[in-house]
Amino acid sequence: MTAIYLDWNATAPLSAVARAAWLSAQDDAWGNPGSVHDQGQRARHAIDQAKATCARVLCCRTNELIVTSGGTEANALAIHAAAESASANGGNAALILASAIDHSSVLRNAELYGRLVKLPVDQQGRLHPQVVQEAMKDKPALVCFQFANNELGTRQDVSALVAAVRAVSPQTRVLLDCAQGAGKAIIDLRALDVDFSSIAGHKFGAPKGVGLLYVKNGVRLPPLIAGGRQQQDRRSGTEDAAGITALAAALSAAATHAEEEDIRQRLLLESAFARIVRDLPQAQWLAHAAERLPNTLSLAHPGIANETLVMRLDLAGIAVSTGAACMAARGEQSHVIAALGIAPDLARGVIRVSIGSTTTVADLDVFVATYVREVRALVR
Ligand SMILES: Cc1ncc(COP(=O)(O)O)c(C=O)c1O
Repeated sequence: MTAIYLDWNATAPLSAVARAAWLSAQDDAWGNPGSVHDQGQRARHAIDQAKATCARVLCCRTNELIVTSGGTEANALAIHAAAESASANGGNAALILASAIDHSSVLRNAELYGRLVKLPVDQQGRLHPQVVQEAMKDKPALVCFQFANNELGTRQDVSALVAAVRAVSPQTRVLLDCAQGAGKAIIDLRALDVDFSSIAGHKFGAPKGVGLLYVKNGVRLPPLIAGGRQQQDRRSGTEDAAGITALAAALSAAATHAEEEDIRQRLLLESAFARIVRDLPQAQWLAHAAERLPNTLSLAHPGIANETLVMRLDLAGIAVSTGAACMAARGEQSHVIAALGIAPDLARGVIRVSIGSTTTVADLDVFVATYVREVRALVR
């Protein structure tokens, strides 16, 4: 049984506010929001209210938000839209640039709908504006990068990257994957000036199966699936009033506590790492020099196999991961760590520790002691 959960970037537990909001919407707003009767209109009202809350937190307009099933669908919708518009104009498969450390939902959909070119990052996981500007000479249809990386926590300099795109090609679209930023950092979509942005509710305490796609007003979004023309015919299917209500509650609560949680979580991880490195001088915190999310520690040690370490920590009741859950499940090595170009022996020994609002000092005390013990046992 997991006693200590340190894998919040894979998914967060359902938060109390999201749970309460979800249950109350299930009781009260369970109608079909397309129905004209009162029961349907209650659901419509709940959705409108929830979207207005999300729009306020994310600094955009309500009609710029589309409810999706999560980050993957949001990324796919955006990539499909940009690729379709470009190939309708030019005939050829659309050129899509993405950072080499983007999530597989970006990389794989870019390959599916266009012609993907991956842009290198530095050893801290940072994409440099000069790299983007140089690649812009081929006039891509879309440029994708992340607000923050799921494995390293590295935050990109979004404004500088967007400026690099706009300086060369104003018609190129920008997709900002905020799946790991929303709920952990303040996001002002209007100021960031991106065309699309994706959000995954389950990363910050909403139920699984609900997310958002931001589409800047004026940007076309053809549907991926034809159906009943819900959400201005951009995403068909009966809308989930309870899901979006819960997401709005979780997002709003996270925004309220963002500043204090940022300080608290940074201190927890800094203190944990300081103790680890005292006992294990070869331990490294990858991408530590970058602007980072407060909750993520990419912890590496040479001479160990990360899968074995993760299993041993699990047996000790501690849940961490070797990287993105979708890759770890298939035993694949992380393309994010590979993109850093670090020594293979160190890359084999990377685990991701990601914490959240209910993680305590005591949790990290146990983690530190167990990690040190298990690494010592493995390095022989
Ligand atoms: C950076 C990033 N983008 C996209 C996704 C996909 O989100 P979802 O799990 O909601 O489909 C994830 C989830 O792991 C992620 O970390």
